[in-house]
Amino acid sequence: MGRCIAIANQKGGSGKTTTARSLASALAERGRRVLLVDLDPQASLSEGCGLELHDLEPTTYQVLIGSARLADAVRPVEPGVEIAPANIHLSAAELQLVNMNRREDKLRNALKPIRDDYDFILIDCPPSFGLLTVNALSAADSVLIPMTCDYYTMLGVRLLLETVRDIQVEVNPSLTIEGLLPTRFDGRTLHAREILDRTKQALGSEIRVFDTIVRESVRFKESPITSRSILSYAGSSSGAHAYRALAEEIDRHA
Ligand SMILES: Nc1ncnc2c1ncn2[C@@H]1O[C@H](COP(=O)(O)OP(=O)(O)OP(=O)(O)O)[C@@H](O)[C@H]1O
Ligand SMILES: [Mg+2]
Repeated sequence: MGRCIAIANQKGGSGKTTTARSLASALAERGRRVLLVDLDPQASLSEGCGLELHDLEPTTYQVLIGSARLADAVRPVEPGVEIAPANIHLSAAELQLVNMNRREDKLRNALKPIRDDYDFILIDCPPSFGLLTVNALSAADSVLIPMTCDYYTMLGVRLLLETVRDIQVEVNPSLTIEGLLPTRFDGRTLHAREILDRTKQALGSEIRVFDTIVRESVRFKESPITSRSILSYAGSSSGAHAYRALAEEIDRHA
């Protein structure tokens, strides 16, 4: 059965979408079948996969409110990678779900019939703790937390870990933490290195901090414009190597 990983951090711009896109390609390069699920109304992941956002129905919005099957929303991205896309309509789902029964189980139930079709399902979460993220954490086996190495993001990770614990108690007892991924790392600054060291000291005994560090690189900003992942756009760049290394760490940890 496909391993379902939610990529979450309530802090905006922490590298969730970039990690979803790049990790999917890196896992596919290893021969894995990957489904991306865009659960962010900003839809950067869908856009970065080259999809026309206004012409997408059905999307994860219809899937969550129960008017479409997930399999009908899935589109091909590249060999080994498919996506259930989103667009701005997904922002209405949060309000609509509030009045529904078992509102936190919608994605989990939608994924059930297709989980065997994939080795990995990667869910890109929005930068908030609302019902969309709760649906992702309820459906997932584990949560991967990308983290930029700055002080406020580090503080925010504590909050996220508390939320994960609440979800474990209330909705998904089998949810684990896949690991913390340092992203956009600028090794030239003492600050980034200090934050990484402090994070490892404070949390390293509780959760896995990946050995892989993703460094700041303009290639990550360029690749979505070409609708390609960093692995295809700049295959020998340090960024591509980092996500290959991450894929290996995750695959090995099965
Ligand atoms: N390693 C990196 N080096 C340089 N730029 C990066 C890197 N990773 C991500 N970026 C850029 O930083 C911005 C934010 O990244 P991304 O969209 O992946 O974060 P996010 O957590 O998904 O954001 P949001 O919370 O808005 O969904 C994007 O412009 C992206 O291209
Ligand atoms: Mg994003």
